[in-house]
Amino acid sequence: MKIDVYHTPLGLNAGDLTGRAVVVIDVLRATSTIVTALAAGAKAIVPAASSEEVVRVTANLEKNGIVLAGERRLLKIEGFNLGNSPREMTKEAVGGKTLFLATTNGTPALLAAQGGDPVLVAAALNFSAVAERARHLFTERGDLVIICAGREKQFALEDAYTAGRLIKAVKKGVPPKKLSLNDAAQVSLDLAALGGWQDALAASDAARQLGEAGLADDVKFCANPDRVAIVPVYADRRIAA
Ligand code: MLT
Repeated sequence: MKIDVYHTPLGLNAGDLTGRAVVVIDVLRATSTIVTALAAGAKAIVPAASSEEVVRVTANLEKNGIVLAGERRLLKIEGFNLGNSPREMTKEAVGGKTLFLATTNGTPALLAAQGGDPVLVAAALNFSAVAERARHLFTERGDLVIICAGREKQFALEDAYTAGRLIKAVKKGVPPKKLSLNDAAQVSLDLAALGGWQDALAASDAARQLGEAGLADDVKFCANPDRVAIVPVYADRRIAA
């Protein structure tokens, strides 16, 4: 039984994901934002490669039913309705709407995961629910891929830590001799011993940068495990619960 972790989507080659169960993580903050938006009643999230793509694909859509959201250098994109803060994803702001979301690392990682079957979206906020679903898939198929968004094409501590916690949950009951982890999975599993969610996320570069941008409360919010029990699934270019 095999678990492969990618610390950024850069290492993925064509066909690597075909027919495989995939979990995507960008815990600070894109996947936390997606989970929160769906929990607040958003109809669906459409991840985009860039803000320009969001503007292009929404140009002819009825504006009542959609929300443009995303960040550039952590801050709301000019002309968009919302940034990439999960705390902005309230029922009033997103209930019943389709969100078009562009972020620096998270939405590109989701786009790179297309081809997986299914593609699940994970954060601390929905951790137990997504871990349970991933465990079922792993038990059935003996295979799982975890894609971390990383940060600016580099390793990101908070995503690798979350991947490690996921591996720990998913491999429960599997005899060590039957389990094959790639190196990135092995080191993620070691990181899961770092401590609790708050400390692990707070230790990351992302948390420091968010703090400098006045968004330290987002880090605390994203480090709350199991606030919701939904498992977002990305299929046909949209993410729905
Ligand atoms: C990203 O996709 O790069 C992140 O979610 C950045 C952020 O907004 O914190």
